[in-house]
Amino acid sequence: MNAPDLTTLTLEEKASLLSGRDFWSTKEIPEAGIPSIVLTDGPHGIRRQAGASDHLGIHDSLPSTCLPPAVAVGSSWNPDIAARVGATVGREGRAFGVAIALGPGVNIKRSPLCGRNFEYYSEDPLLSGVLGAAHVTGLQAEGTGASVKHFAANNQETERMRISADVDERTLREIYLPAFERVVTEANPATVMCSYNKINGFYASENTWLLTDLLRGEWNFRGAVVSDWGAVGNRIEGVKAGMDLEMPGSVGKTDQQIIDAVRSGVLEEDLVDASVRRVLELSNLAPAEGARFDVDDHHALARELATEGIVLLRNENGALPLPTGQQIAVIGAFADTPRFQGGGSSHINPTRLDTALHEIRGQAQLRNSRVTYAPGFTVDGSGDESALLVDAVDAASSADVAVVFAGLGDREESEGFDRDALTLPPAQVALLKAVAKANPRTVVVLSNGGVVSLEGWHDDVDAIVEGWLLGQGGGRAIADVLFGTTNPSGHLAETIPFRLEDNPSYLNFPGEQGHVRYGEGVFVGYRYYESANVPVRYPFGYGLSYTQFTTTGLTVDTKDVDGALARVTVKNTGDSVGKHVVQLYVSTTAGPVRRPVRELRAFAKVELQPGEERTIDLALDRRAFAYWDVELGRWVVPAGDYSIQVGTDSSTIVAEKAVTLQGDPIVRPLTMQSTVGDWFGHPVAGPVLMQGLTAAMSPEQAEQADQNADGLKMVESMPMHQFLAFTGDSIPLECLESLVEQTRTEPATTAVPA
Ligand code: BGC
Repeated sequence: MNAPDLTTLTLEEKASLLSGRDFWSTKEIPEAGIPSIVLTDGPHGIRRQAGASDHLGIHDSLPSTCLPPAVAVGSSWNPDIAARVGATVGREGRAFGVAIALGPGVNIKRSPLCGRNFEYYSEDPLLSGVLGAAHVTGLQAEGTGASVKHFAANNQETERMRISADVDERTLREIYLPAFERVVTEANPATVMCSYNKINGFYASENTWLLTDLLRGEWNFRGAVVSDWGAVGNRIEGVKAGMDLEMPGSVGKTDQQIIDAVRSGVLEEDLVDASVRRVLELSNLAPAEGARFDVDDHHALARELATEGIVLLRNENGALPLPTGQQIAVIGAFADTPRFQGGGSSHINPTRLDTALHEIRGQAQLRNSRVTYAPGFTVDGSGDESALLVDAVDAASSADVAVVFAGLGDREESEGFDRDALTLPPAQVALLKAVAKANPRTVVVLSNGGVVSLEGWHDDVDAIVEGWLLGQGGGRAIADVLFGTTNPSGHLAETIPFRLEDNPSYLNFPGEQGHVRYGEGVFVGYRYYESANVPVRYPFGYGLSYTQFTTTGLTVDTKDVDGALARVTVKNTGDSVGKHVVQLYVSTTAGPVRRPVRELRAFAKVELQPGEERTIDLALDRRAFAYWDVELGRWVVPAGDYSIQVGTDSSTIVAEKAVTLQGDPIVRPLTMQSTVGDWFGHPVAGPVLMQGLTAAMSPEQAEQADQNADGLKMVESMPMHQFLAFTGDSIPLECLESLVEQTRTEPATTAVPA
């Protein structure tokens, strides 16, 4: 559609374009050639409702392919998987007449208790951003627009519609915003969805700093901002802040408010026009009629894309892959009634559904193995669970191996509420322990959207397969990993702690009296565990394979003034083909702020044949070394020593190289509030002051000052104006004022490696 001339539209018509017609579509103005478009969930499938509508996944939707949710894509560490999930959703979006498929969600997993963690990728902003950008690129290449969500600092479900996330700017910039920034700057999403919550007291939907200064000003976003469903409070403040499209509609109420505000001079019509233009751009995404998708092809894709999300956590005594000619006892209701997606707005009505039990039976038959099945518990905790446990123990004791499917049900986790504990339901823990006692070879397969505690039974079992929620093809993907048809290659995108209390957000989650304080600052997930030396059950980045890899020959080239290039050689030293994730961390104490012990700054997933080796290049840009400086209001690369580390996870470093960077030539502006230490240590003012002082001193005074160095230390933290008051204006005020002026003119900054 060509952009219509807005002067041909009345104010009423323009206002009407800024809110939905109904739950899932925008208003049309046929006379002006403006069509209605459909926006619907997302992110791992199309939830197209034909009958009653809702945003909580309560009413039915048309069958579509349920691809692996973000929790599984996160664990794949593979942007290609994210891109193919996006592309598949994009193709189905077109077939369902959808212009915008809502997603992906790139919020950070701050607490393992967040009920919606299954819909987010990781506790790390780089991993989240790279996968989110790949999803958007894949989706939009198919002609369907994206809506990256929920912008911003929406890291919990408790009170999500009104809580204020109280976060300092460094933490926002380093942890909670970079994934959005990457998606916006690299993948150009059609829309950004603003979140329900407040940020430091201001609703995201009315937040000019967030939606205009940062998103459009700094990141150059050119698309439209859409509200989360029902996130609009004060519509006029929203338009002023740059919140373009209110979803769903308000049956004309807020349209009228916009009209009245323009007429009374409270709202500039130019702002309305700007929003209308951005919303009208979306009309170009209106899908062509007649698009189709092949249900079987997409089911095959759902299977394939699920495999890399599975993380093999434990594999003692060669328990996996399952050998041939075995009697296998499959235990646990999730084997037959899979939990393959989370509850809420992303809930898909799948076109097909694999069950692990069926797939295991199929593959067992080919390997001359026999399968028995006992549910062991009920997913909703109903019925006589102790009788089910007895049957399961019976089945386990007469088998060569017991494979137990445990996990969380929809009651335990969903959009809309947070969990209050990490543990599995008690009946399942009892079952795991009883089965492990009855059969020394016990394998556990987990189905859960958020991290569960493995304590109390971890050491009793031989193998643990973290199957997360894998979408409709997950049953096959799990069977493939159990039998070794595919080699597991997933790695944790979030830490599995020993105890909930170990998590850095523990004391501040989910907040109280309307506020959640992000008190742990940038120390989220592994950034905290590694920095505070808190032991965990499985660290971020961890994952086993049926083969082994070595990492050698790390080199780091820092000649490029805007970053560095790391090069490392990985080799598959085992006897099966496998995929390895090279994880590159940067570690430093440089700069005036406390830095996490290490931070993920680059990664790559490579497939290697047995014996094959490959050299991988990983580029580190300026941001890989930078922190957000709140005083200067920008990214700073401080001068100093940096260690470039390759880890098989965030706590296991297998190669390391030290580099020294000259960093940005920073000149901090001084004020009379700056301390004596700041003044004397300042690269411009310090030498001038020292020279002046020394010149004014007699040799005796100079000697005295030398002996009194400790006394000087005591005044170092004193603001200059106080120091002057105490010392009877010992330094002339005009001299200090002229130095203040000089420190305001800063040289340009570049990261210049030494
Ligand atoms: C969710 C969004 C979703 C929207 C529409 C909201 O409740 O937070 O993620 O896209 O509903 O269903």
